[in-house]
Amino acid sequence: MPIILGIESSCDDTSAAVLQNDRILSNVIASQKVHEQYGGVVPELASRAHQQNIIPVIDAAISNAGIDKKDISAVAFTRGPGLLGSLLVGVSFAKSFSQALNIPLIDVNHLQAHVLSHFIKENDDSVVPQFPFLCLLVSGGHTQIVLLRDYFDMEIIGNTIDDAAGEAIDKAAKIMELGYPGGPIIDRLAKEGDPLKFKFATPNIKGYDYSFSGIKTSFLYFLRDNLVDNPNFIQENINDLCASIQHCIVSFLLKKLHKAMKDTGVKQVAIAGGVSANSYLRTQLTEMGRKNKWDVFVPKFQFCTDNAAMVAIAGYHKYLKGDFADLSLPPYTRGGY
Ligand code: KG4
Ligand code: ZN
Repeated sequence: MPIILGIESSCDDTSAAVLQNDRILSNVIASQKVHEQYGGVVPELASRAHQQNIIPVIDAAISNAGIDKKDISAVAFTRGPGLLGSLLVGVSFAKSFSQALNIPLIDVNHLQAHVLSHFIKENDDSVVPQFPFLCLLVSGGHTQIVLLRDYFDMEIIGNTIDDAAGEAIDKAAKIMELGYPGGPIIDRLAKEGDPLKFKFATPNIKGYDYSFSGIKTSFLYFLRDNLVDNPNFIQENINDLCASIQHCIVSFLLKKLHKAMKDTGVKQVAIAGGVSANSYLRTQLTEMGRKNKWDVFVPKFQFCTDNAAMVAIAGYHKYLKGDFADLSLPPYTRGGY
């Protein structure tokens, strides 16, 4: 029954988690409020905050799990992609920890970890996907449709050619001066709005690929034009604007996912990444799954945005294969899979 400590520090969340086999024992996340006043993540501030948070977060994960650090079988860490300064904190800590305890070190790709978060079990009744399945990975940095044939046999069959979906939502929120990160704010306000009130065109992109930069620009121009006639246009229509832009982005995400499901003939579908916390995406996908008789896997909220439990589950499956890292491995800022 291996016990894996997972460490995540790729962006602005410091997280540590403990898993016994694939069962979660603890998952501690320290989010960094410092970035809100700047409207986005400031890399240098993020790495400094990781340095402050990492030891208390790991201590809490170990004690919440009810274990001693000597019980840990291996330490898994996010090697990339992410911000270099942020990654270095987790990578250096993981290396020192594995050396001090003389336990194996496991490097994990952040994107694979998001997708594999579906295999974290909370109890004996937890249902996990069967291979093959498709996963829509939607975060602040990525928008991909991934075909999983096995834990580490993942093929990216669709990708964004410019902005990520989360980035587009955050930018729409910024244009309306709603604060950062905009995704959860738009999600909340959209609940009171009409998703069909305003229409924004989605681009024609081949295959299962996405593009979000045009949607963002058309949203900007739409507001600019309406503000000429009515300077209070945003305040007076805020709920409808949030619901409509959210509907536009979510419908586009699901249209391509639907096409990929039909073409591949796969019957199980999952979502992962920060944007998978979006309530409209979750209900629309669940409804689409019901109509098409697909099994739909929607992650628990704590496993949507960045967390170390997903790093630990990816680490666990690498542990079973004996796929360990050596101390010379540097972090990487881009790429993966
Ligand atoms: O996966 P994540 O925590 O970090 C990255 O790896 O990028 O994703 C962060 C993204 C942000 O763009 C944030 O606005 C978005 O996830 N997000 C949401 C919601 N919660 C987080 N977007 C829409 N609705 C939400 N409820
Ligand atoms: Zn992420």
